[in-house]
Amino acid sequence: MSKVIVTDHPLIQHKLTLMRDKNTGSKDFRELLTEISMLMGYEITRNVQLEEIEIETPVIKTKSKVIAGKKLGIVPILRAGLGMVDGLVSLTPAAKVGHVGLYRDPETLKPVEYYCKLPQDIEEREMIIVDPMLATGGSAVAAIDVLKSRGANSIKLVNLVAAPEGIAEVQKYHPDVDIYVAAIDEKLNDHGYIVPGLGDAGDRLYGTK
Ligand code: URA
Repeated sequence: MSKVIVTDHPLIQHKLTLMRDKNTGSKDFRELLTEISMLMGYEITRNVQLEEIEIETPVIKTKSKVIAGKKLGIVPILRAGLGMVDGLVSLTPAAKVGHVGLYRDPETLKPVEYYCKLPQDIEEREMIIVDPMLATGGSAVAAIDVLKSRGANSIKLVNLVAAPEGIAEVQKYHPDVDIYVAAIDEKLNDHGYIVPGLGDAGDRLYGTK
């Protein structure tokens, strides 16, 4: 079974409370999401491999550690996932960024892929799928399906707020994928919104309705 890692650093909790507040406007909402994504990135990258290289400081020749091993690939689920990219990329500038777009078929209610552009060497990368809200889990499961079908061997899922229903769905279909969240909320309501949640993350990011 996959792990669920709750990155509940006090700074993250504080910023998430500001994001939840309905009076927080799009500019602040975007900035807060970027900041939280960066802070979550600290935990997400905790286990990246290091190697020792030789360098020369102004004082002496020495050995020191740099990141080695798998390179990262960051994949936002369009559109709200875009709001988590800048914070992560600022921490990991060598990461490549792919995009996956999904819409919900009105008849089957299942997510359907309408856009997919991924790094070529996806099978050699640690892929990180980002989407602020893990609600029913349908999009996350579909996005993981998309990456696996294109050859991804190592995938993490990163969400800001998750509903228990969404976590259970991802764990059911993809028990190999660890899930990083800033908070696990109470439940989904009848309209598929996370409660208490923060509303529609895409609309709040981009000022749409
Ligand atoms: N997507 C959102 O943006 N918000 C929710 O509460 C659920 C899904």
